[in-house]
Amino acid sequence: MGRPCRPKRGGGGYSGTGLRRLLGVEFMDIERVGAGLEPPAALVQLLAETERLVVLTGAGISVESGVPTFRGPEGLWRSFRPEELATPQAFQRNPRLVWEWYDWRRAKIAQARPNPGHLALVRLEERVPDFLLLTQNVDGLHRLAGSRRLLEIHGSLWEVRCLSCGAVREDRRVPIPMLPHCGGCGGLLRPHVVWFGEALNPEILRRAEEALIRAQTVLVVGTSAVVQPAASFALWAREAGAAIVEINPDPTPLTRYCRFALAGAAGEVLPRLLSRLEEQPSR
Ligand code: APR
Repeated sequence: MGRPCRPKRGGGGYSGTGLRRLLGVEFMDIERVGAGLEPPAALVQLLAETERLVVLTGAGISVESGVPTFRGPEGLWRSFRPEELATPQAFQRNPRLVWEWYDWRRAKIAQARPNPGHLALVRLEERVPDFLLLTQNVDGLHRLAGSRRLLEIHGSLWEVRCLSCGAVREDRRVPIPMLPHCGGCGGLLRPHVVWFGEALNPEILRRAEEALIRAQTVLVVGTSAVVQPAASFALWAREAGAAIVEINPDPTPLTRYCRFALAGAAGEVLPRLLSRLEEQPSR
């Protein structure tokens, strides 16, 4: 059941299709599409014509790999307090507690495998000349799936950083020794992830911004779109003329700005969308 979902209109009662087309995305209906349905032909066409694409993913894309999200009924932040586990102050206060939590997550995620949603994004990357995947996820599953034009904007669970010499290294030990220390200088290691209250790596932010500003389409998958700056990425691109497409079983603050919002699980919707796209004649 395709449910038309109308965003707030600025059109003072004008709703003719021709006028809406003339005025652009601001006045278009959002199409919300149930998980059981085919992706709308207009969406397949939009993606087929898109040469500059940014994809933004969040925890939702890894749900079907068995990795819990942060928010929502089953989310990690229901059982754990972010301020005790995911801030620089928390680490300063109690590095062992923070490391134990990361060690538990590393052990869980070490068993996880990319799901059909991750794999569909690898297929999408192969089709689009100017492509960038921005993920908020630290689980490493996009890389494992084979995504290459990828920026892990919140870092990686599988990298550690020395608090003394600043060296960043891959570290896949599970369990990790408590507490882990730098092989080079002996300093205390921390997870190389971006915690609450910390800024994104400026070079990563610069590359993300450049891609967003030139993007024709931004595909947003499985994020609640509440953590900045990622929550604003799609809106920056929209400001510069891009269409936003969202895949998420639940509405988010971004939904009303979308050209298409597909209400379904990433692991089901993305492979179907890619199959339809691959049926299109190649450019
Ligand atoms: N497919 C797609 N989306 C899904 C699925 C699914 N199968 N299951 C759930 N979702 C959606 C939820 O509806 C929700 O909107 O995924 C989203 C997950 O939201 P969050 O748990 O808030 O995760 P995310 O948006 O990635 O969080 C951002 O917050 O705690 C920090 O640093 C952490 O990177 C994380 C950031």
